[in-house]
Amino acid sequence: MSIQVNEEHQLFLLTTKNMCYGIGVDNKGQLLHTHWGEKVKIEDCIHLLQPYYHSHFDAEVDREREEYSPWGGLSFTEPALKVKFHDGVRDLKLQYKSYSLHVSDDMLDEGSILEIHLQDAYYSLDVNLTYKVIAEFDLIERKASLTNKGTEPIQLEIAQSAVWSIPALEAYRMVYVTGKWQEEFQIKSCMLTEGKKVIESRRGITSHHANPWFAVDNGAANETSGAVWFGSLAWSGNWKITAEKTAFGNVRIVGGINDFDFEWSLKAGETFETPAFIGGYTAEGFGGMSRRLHGYQLKYIMPSSKQTTYRKILYNSWEATEFNVSVREQTFLAQKAAEIGVELFVIDDGWFGKRNHDKAGLGDWYVNTEKFPNGLGELIERINTLGMDFGLWVEPEMVNPDSELYRSHPDWIYHFPNRESSLARNQLVLNLSKPEVKTFILDFMTKLLQENNIKFIKWDMNRAISEPGGLHDPAPEQREFWVRHVLHLYEIWDELRTCFPDVTFETCSSGGGRVDFGMLRYADQAWVSDNTDAFDRLKIQEGFSYTYSAQSMMCWVTDSPGHANHRSVSLKYRFHSAMMGSLGIGGDLNKWTDSELIEAKELVALYKELRPMIQQGKQYRLHSPRTEPTTAVQYVNDDGSESVIFVFLHSQQFGNFMPRLRLNGLQSDQIYQVELAEPFTMSGSGLMSIGIPIALGGDFDSVLIRVRVVG
Ligand code: DGJ
Repeated sequence: MSIQVNEEHQLFLLTTKNMCYGIGVDNKGQLLHTHWGEKVKIEDCIHLLQPYYHSHFDAEVDREREEYSPWGGLSFTEPALKVKFHDGVRDLKLQYKSYSLHVSDDMLDEGSILEIHLQDAYYSLDVNLTYKVIAEFDLIERKASLTNKGTEPIQLEIAQSAVWSIPALEAYRMVYVTGKWQEEFQIKSCMLTEGKKVIESRRGITSHHANPWFAVDNGAANETSGAVWFGSLAWSGNWKITAEKTAFGNVRIVGGINDFDFEWSLKAGETFETPAFIGGYTAEGFGGMSRRLHGYQLKYIMPSSKQTTYRKILYNSWEATEFNVSVREQTFLAQKAAEIGVELFVIDDGWFGKRNHDKAGLGDWYVNTEKFPNGLGELIERINTLGMDFGLWVEPEMVNPDSELYRSHPDWIYHFPNRESSLARNQLVLNLSKPEVKTFILDFMTKLLQENNIKFIKWDMNRAISEPGGLHDPAPEQREFWVRHVLHLYEIWDELRTCFPDVTFETCSSGGGRVDFGMLRYADQAWVSDNTDAFDRLKIQEGFSYTYSAQSMMCWVTDSPGHANHRSVSLKYRFHSAMMGSLGIGGDLNKWTDSELIEAKELVALYKELRPMIQQGKQYRLHSPRTEPTTAVQYVNDDGSESVIFVFLHSQQFGNFMPRLRLNGLQSDQIYQVELAEPFTMSGSGLMSIGIPIALGGDFDSVLIRVRVVG
């Protein structure tokens, strides 16, 4: 039974495979958090509802453990909800009313939804908290629905998705990612002391600069062991996660849509639903955390039609030809791509309007007839004849001032009167909160997909949103644009996915600027970074893998020296780095030598063999590029009978040789064949406790090792 209710003591206990999560109602009718961690009995939580009193300055310390804390009364911690009623009252008093149990729509976890109904003590505001139990992955999906049951509007000023209370620990370490363009998903950590640590985006997109997830441990957890509490927010616009440690030692993580410049007018009868915030617990360290999130993404988040298929090996011509696309040039590249085993050929930027550089054309979504005199169809046919699918790049939310679209609809951009709208990459952002802009995007995308045999869309977003105003919209409503933009974006993707179920979609925002569980409900895969340097990628990919699956992680093999660092590394090293996710190739194949093309063909064929294990198997990070001179990542199939390990030596020093590499996730009592230059056999327990010898040397060396149960 995944949800237990103790009516007498008003306690609720959600149980997953290895975790319990508890809440209860105290004698004042407040919903308090009781427990999150190892399994307990529901009766164990009875005493956790006792009130805590300290002084007249902290008369309601117990409110620090409120499950969804409203701002009002004697509560001084980071609130989950702050509102203004029509008469100016800003004090919110939420009282527990009732609960209900439901079966989830997807039927993946029967009987797995708890709803808690709260109400304001006087005003007609209902707050409905939803808890969906994802038992097999030790996760709970939470969200809040706020309904105005009265006749006057209610202004929402803060509306967070959830508050996660961390149990008492001897110390609190928060782990998260930060970064920037070309340096996304860098793992960082800090000890939480009294006060707040905030990670957020105010850019209208998820951002390169942080990603909406957190992990907390006592400072001692590692990849394989230790208790870790973690959460990931499914939102692709402005978001905020606040970790607060109070003077009483309570640690709470409050997260949701960023309250910065946020306001939402909840009209009579309307409901505002927050994005989902998925939280989990594991005693198996950060590796255990990631494997739970990967499994959850593959089974619950990923668009359902793509759950069981593997991502195709794509070629993208952006780095080879940039805006200079033509049928002739692309055909040459396509022939080479087909020869080495590519399955999907993608034309990136430059195929439309007057798009010969990044200063013009965005918004004019018709084929450039100078580059494609016979339309896209001619090239698509050639590509299909070569045995590959065809894919296309778009950036629908943007417009260049030098475009027909801007000239005919200058009022369609985000813009404050009496202000210049800031240009970034020579482009402006369309005000997607407007229904007419949404219709425009949906219409041109539908036409494009209807008229052409396109099997893949890369949807880009190359700048942040700024000056989020509208010429004719009342000022308070303009604060809703941040949220409406994202909701319209989701609606467009939802509609396109329904109408074109065979098309695979990639989310891109100048690399990894819009990757989160909100976007990944619609996108099959994500472009992780514009930085394709195979060595830098090891850290970027490691950070990505903390939350997101290898299947959704797009990695390209590009030319050497690369554009990011002018570093030269071997083709084998570049392939190995890119084979750790969904493989793509982005180099200029016309410049690759015959021997490089032969090597690429062999590695592409090998990847096809390993693909199910890499894209949908279990991942173990054995050595981290952050802390060790080597990186090692292992992928294991479902039953542990087969595995592949990628090992990278960064730079050999002092004549040191590498220690044996201990594996993970294998069956202890099985005998495995280790396919090295000198193959040998060893038991699973031997491989996991003694390990295998690694003979790498020099700079930027790498090896791919296969391990299989002897048949
Ligand atoms: C940014 C993307 O990240 C690149 O891969 C490429 O698509 C360019 N935009 C095209 O303008």
